[in-house]
Amino acid sequence: MIGRLNHVAIAVPQLGAAVAQYRTTLGAEVSEALPQPEHGVTVVFVTLPNTKIELLEPLGEKSPIAAFLERNPAGGIHHLCYEVADIRSARDRLKAAGARVLGDGEPRIGAHGKPVLFLHPKDFNGTLVELEQA
Ligand code: CO
Repeated sequence: MIGRLNHVAIAVPQLGAAVAQYRTTLGAEVSEALPQPEHGVTVVFVTLPNTKIELLEPLGEKSPIAAFLERNPAGGIHHLCYEVADIRSARDRLKAAGARVLGDGEPRIGAHGKPVLFLHPKDFNGTLVELEQA
């Protein structure tokens, strides 16, 4: 059911420093920063030949990654995103298998303008999983 690895998301405490590291030290193609107040993050996309890295910095008071960065002050891998062809049928199959979908279970429009859902990390080996309709 799952397809390509769409991206790996890394929460970072200082987006400017992380951008400089990816752009200069690692020599990667890095986008401009995109504030996403509705998601509580500022996002930068690192484009690699086979996938993307998303660098996430908290934005606003109620950022969903603030608690993660409190536990991981130097930053860390926050989630993996897998592509699916049909997000609602993927959700229904996962729920039937006992996986917990975060939030109200309805797909939201994610950072790439496509419908996304998140699955509870306790149901996936301690990994927060995002599904994105490709
Ligand atoms: Co993501």
